[in-house]
Amino acid sequence: MKGAAEVPAARAMLGLPMSRLSLLVDLASLIPREVDLDALLQTACERLAEAMQADRATLWLVDQEQGDLVTRVAVLPEVPALRQPLGKGLAGHVARTGELLRVDDAAADPRFDPSADAATGYETRTVLVAPVRESPKAPVRGVVQVLNKAEGPFTEEDERYLAALALQLGGVLAMTTLRADAGSGPGVVLRGPFNHIVGRSEAMDAVYERVQLAAQTDAAVLLRGETGTGKTLFARAIHVNSARQAAPFVTVDCTTLPGQLVESELFGHERGAFTGADRRVRGKVELAHGGTLFLDEIGDLPPESQGKLLRFLQERRFERVGGRETLESDVRLLFATHRDLETLVSEGRFREDLYYRVRVVEIEVPPLRERGADEVLRLARHFADRYARRHGRPTPQLDEAVLARLAAHDWPGNVRELEHWIESAIVLAPDGHVRERHLPSLRAPRPGRGGVTLPRGLTLDEATRRYVEATVEASGGNRSEAARRLGIGRNTVTRILKR
Ligand SMILES: Nc1ncnc2c1ncn2[C@@H]1O[C@H](COP(=O)(O)OP(=O)(O)OP(=O)(O)O)[C@@H](O)[C@H]1O
Ligand SMILES: [Mg+2]
Repeated sequence: MKGAAEVPAARAMLGLPMSRLSLLVDLASLIPREVDLDALLQTACERLAEAMQADRATLWLVDQEQGDLVTRVAVLPEVPALRQPLGKGLAGHVARTGELLRVDDAAADPRFDPSADAATGYETRTVLVAPVRESPKAPVRGVVQVLNKAEGPFTEEDERYLAALALQLGGVLAMTTLRADAGSGPGVVLRGPFNHIVGRSEAMDAVYERVQLAAQTDAAVLLRGETGTGKTLFARAIHVNSARQAAPFVTVDCTTLPGQLVESELFGHERGAFTGADRRVRGKVELAHGGTLFLDEIGDLPPESQGKLLRFLQERRFERVGGRETLESDVRLLFATHRDLETLVSEGRFREDLYYRVRVVEIEVPPLRERGADEVLRLARHFADRYARRHGRPTPQLDEAVLARLAAHDWPGNVRELEHWIESAIVLAPDGHVRERHLPSLRAPRPGRGGVTLPRGLTLDEATRRYVEATVEASGGNRSEAARRLGIGRNTVTRILKR
């Protein structure tokens, strides 16, 4: 237990292990982050076992869709995921009744299911099982079970503690992606392996696997995919699930920087390095020391900066602009691009040697239209719940016609476009009942009053640029608004206009 050694007096004073106090503190800091949910539950179980002076703790969740109990953690490290019907064993009993259960001799209890012990050779003796939920009256989300107290049976005091901890855990779950669907009955919805990342389609499996593997190492990762697919989200997930999680995650957007400024942004500058440099500024490379540096839209890095970056990637050394001192920084690098880097290389616009350094591990994030209609609806419900909470709207309900429109759309702006649709519908439907008229009209964005006329013979790049330009104009010069109409990100607008 970190911290316990530093405050022995407080510990002795309270007469209980520090871990009883710190369970929530540990978990609370993880709630807003894209943590691996299994790891989060694992942490919770470890803290619980320690707090209860028990040999093990297990957490079972009630799966709202299947109506059974599922666990992935801590029961048996050798079994990755277990399911069992609601009502089986002690855990099932508590999930069904919602009442805390204490057993002093498991083998003698008819409700005890010995099959897990039989499979592992573990011998369960004493057990305490408590329901997990947000409040004593809320539907049961799962159960937490602690096994084999170090000395003697569990006491009444233990019962009260576990009940309180289980409630706190319920509160934590409600703030993660492992929450229940709004307004629904018991259980939680399993939406995906990472907190705040929704998706269970086959198309996403390869992404999750690679994100998990990449997070275990310091290897450079290149995230590829269309705009709005979640590249930035996954970059954060890699950092948050890596050994560098406690250190900074620093982003540099290579599109928004004019050539000369990139170098100073990355490596910093000394006072007087150029006009206006009135003080020393540390670069992002320095700020990310110990952590992760995320270079977004790496394909847009100006050619004159590519050499400097390459040197840094090779030697981890750099100089501030206008400085002579050579500095070192320990950073893990992540990159993202929506561009075809191979084409840029063949056109001589992206250095080949840099290209190989950048794409040590490649993760291709699939466009939303390849993830299937179920996934679109799952994401839509997730965003509906989220924005209803944020905007103080009642529990949202999406009309059949709305679901049909969502399922049929081809999502050129991917998850970001879907997120915007749902947020705006939630705002426009104050009673929470989302109807088709709350969705954006089917018209494509029409720049100007009469639309825009493009001459034949333009390259696709040039045509795109002009169309985007016209849309920005038609949006009164507001790039964010233009981005919304086009179903792309604001950065993408900026990038296209720069071409
Ligand atoms: N699987 C997902 N679950 C929940 N939210 C998601 C998911 N994928 C993307 N989002 C949300 O969609 C929006 C766009 O995602 P993100 O910014 O990561 O996309 P991107 O690929 O980096 O886009 P760009 O190419 O424009 O930079 C964000 O608000 C993000 O939180
Ligand atoms: Mg991004």
